[in-house]
Amino acid sequence: TQHLLGLEGMTPNQIEPLLDQAESYALLNRSRKVPRDVLRGRTLINLFFEDSTRTRTSFELAGKRLGADVINMSVAQSSVNKGETLLDTAATLNAMQADLLVVRHAQSGAPALLAQKVEACVVNAGDGTHEHPTQALLDALTIRRHCGQLAGLTVAICGDVAHSRVARSNIHLLTTMGSKVRVVGPPTLVPGAIRHLGVDIFHTMEEGLRDVDVVMMLRLQRERMSSGLIPSAREYFRFYGLDNRRLALAKPKALVMHPGPMNRGVEIDSQVADSDQSVIQEQVEMGVAVRMAVLDRLTRSRHSA
Ligand code: CP
Repeated sequence: TQHLLGLEGMTPNQIEPLLDQAESYALLNRSRKVPRDVLRGRTLINLFFEDSTRTRTSFELAGKRLGADVINMSVAQSSVNKGETLLDTAATLNAMQADLLVVRHAQSGAPALLAQKVEACVVNAGDGTHEHPTQALLDALTIRRHCGQLAGLTVAICGDVAHSRVARSNIHLLTTMGSKVRVVGPPTLVPGAIRHLGVDIFHTMEEGLRDVDVVMMLRLQRERMSSGLIPSAREYFRFYGLDNRRLALAKPKALVMHPGPMNRGVEIDSQVADSDQSVIQEQVEMGVAVRMAVLDRLTRSRHSA
């Protein structure tokens, strides 16, 4: 069985066709002409142990548009609260003959562990600080639609890199596809070891944003910080918030991106988030298309195996 657990190690020959197929689904979504039989008879279970708006909803929409039966398991009301382990939950869902299991979990590596125990295709919908592969794919598709290609672009990923699975998946994808990646943030939130992933580190927005093609902002993940180390919103915005003045340092038509959920006035100014340079809503739209492509590919690989 094939899974999508992360983008580390994937090649351009694997990424490019997935983006091409997602682009086709984006067009079909717009024209309301999606074939309803691609996942007919298949069952998709959304298993989210952490909160989500975009990812859970878009996997549900993606599955339903392609004709799958979609179950959203509400972890808050599940037997997880009675002490059932992750693996026993997985075994239970396996016995129900799910074809696709979409998993978000606070623990890095949880989807990979599940993948060893179930026959379903497992899709990582975000695991701890490890990876969020479909987010990076939808980001790449959005960039490609505006810039034509990923190779040769300079992308600045700014903010709480230390806690960000979005940053890690984007670094793997973008460096693989030939983009130059900068990470920008305070030393407390940008670990020096990240340099080994092939990125350049900057500790001021003024240096990091200069002449970039894409500015990708990250949310300050307070829930993953110990209370004494959380910067105040005002202090953080003063030094690392994206406002018009800082955005002006990037190329004139640089894209402004954010995976969501945004904290306006903390990492991004409202005016910038809603400006003509912002592609944040397009990222959400591409999220559905990318997830359709992922579900389509995994299901075909499973049944041709
Ligand atoms: N970008 C993202 O993963 O958003 P959600 O947490 O709302 O799914």
